[in-house]
Amino acid sequence: MQERGLSRREFVGGAAAGVALGAGLLSGACAAAKKATPAASRKQRGPNERVVLGVIGCGGMGASNMRSLMAFDDIEVAALCDVDDNRVPKDYADVETKYGRPPQVYKDYRRMLERRDIDAVIVGTPDHWHALNLIHAVEAGKDAYCEKPVSHNIAEARSMVAAARHHKRIVQVGTWQRSTREFTDAIAYVRSGKLGRITQCRAWIADTTRIGKGKVEAVPPSLDYDFWVGPAKMTPYQSNKVHWNWRWLMNFGGGLSTDWGVHMMDIAMLGMSAGQDLVMPVEISAYGGRYAFVDDDRDAPDVTEALLRFKDPNFILHWSVLRDHPGKPGHGTEFISVDGRTLRVWRGGWTLLDPEGKELPKEQAEAAPTDHWRNFVDCVKSRQKPRADLASVAQTTIVCHLVNAALESGQVVRWNKAAMEIDGKTGKDTLAYSRPYRKPWKLPVYS
Ligand SMILES: NC(=O)c1ccc[n+]([C@@H]2O[C@H](COP(=O)([O-])OP(=O)(O)OC[C@H]3O[C@@H](n4cnc5c(N)ncnc54)[C@H](O)[C@@H]3O)[C@@H](O)[C@H]2O)c1
Repeated sequence: MQERGLSRREFVGGAAAGVALGAGLLSGACAAAKKATPAASRKQRGPNERVVLGVIGCGGMGASNMRSLMAFDDIEVAALCDVDDNRVPKDYADVETKYGRPPQVYKDYRRMLERRDIDAVIVGTPDHWHALNLIHAVEAGKDAYCEKPVSHNIAEARSMVAAARHHKRIVQVGTWQRSTREFTDAIAYVRSGKLGRITQCRAWIADTTRIGKGKVEAVPPSLDYDFWVGPAKMTPYQSNKVHWNWRWLMNFGGGLSTDWGVHMMDIAMLGMSAGQDLVMPVEISAYGGRYAFVDDDRDAPDVTEALLRFKDPNFILHWSVLRDHPGKPGHGTEFISVDGRTLRVWRGGWTLLDPEGKELPKEQAEAAPTDHWRNFVDCVKSRQKPRADLASVAQTTIVCHLVNAALESGQVVRWNKAAMEIDGKTGKDTLAYSRPYRKPWKLPVYS
């Protein structure tokens, strides 16, 4: 495999992770990735057979996904993994009650991945961990339900897609809006052509979050903080910078342009595409920064205005991290046609408006989709592409990172869809594009 346009230097954080991982099960180096053969997968599951699950990252969305999946009789949760012991007890109790036996608990996900009885994992860790968790999982022959945004940066997203493809794994991403009626109906309406030719889309999220001013503290005994930081840059422990709040720190997340951009821009791009292979912008510009919450530890922008230019079809997507949203939901996506009609969709509904803002009649285009988590289990069994296939949501994730790359570089960034690469140098020298991994972690590079 080639490293298509990627410099090895950008990914090598130190000693080969393969050494640390041992047993050759989990490759850590590019050289290892080059030689890796598709992981041995368990036999194909019959329709009534149980899919055995492990959870990486408990307590938050990982656990929420676990509970959604536990609703199905053909799912069994066998193992839980978290680097913080305090995040596990509730999930442990619920699994024990449901299956009449306790799950095995791990602190190191690599040990959990060694188990041959586990078919699939939930990746519910913060964004800076997704790439390693997911690539190591597919190398170990596991399918995955991986949370969004797919990655912390563009280079990771690209490697994750190639790794899943190489190891022939099913990966559903947690953009569950792709499986709810208001969004599937709105997308079907746009794709049907009934709204006419669309020249503009808008997507937005209102941002009101502060994480406060904290101070350096002793790490609580329950938490392996070094493991929690993982491949990111080490920073002193502060309790207001860890669970949940990491998303407002660019070292661990990407702010709301990735956290919610991946939901709302995903809908715009899906509507403007024929299928899961998404139309991609050719030029991205963005302005903004941390203007509102200056007396706060967060470093993610609280104001962002980005313009993304698409070709074939020609349209502009306007992405905003807003301070206000009068008369509109706090998040949403709009499609605007050449005759001035607007289709607006948000979590909970969709509406059609004439140029004066008067509501127009709409129609429900298709039957309600199956549940997002059921779709994952069905695809694990059928080996069909899930509705939020990794390769597709990686495209949306990359668009979110391109917004951050344009903001960080202060310049227009250009994207080459065919090469799956930034055109030229602008944007490559940003955290949104790639970063060195902290030793001993190392990104396995697939392409
Ligand atoms: N799809 C959605 O609607 C939705 C909603 C919320 C969050 N999310 C996504 O879910 C992911 C998790 O977000 P959250 O809010 O639950 O975060 P969180 O901080 O509340 O929970 C993450 C958990 O992962 C654990 N963890 C960290 N590194 C680990 C590692 N290497 N191995 C094992 N455990 C590790 C943490 O200790 C913590 O318990 C994020 O990617 C986020 O964007 C998605």
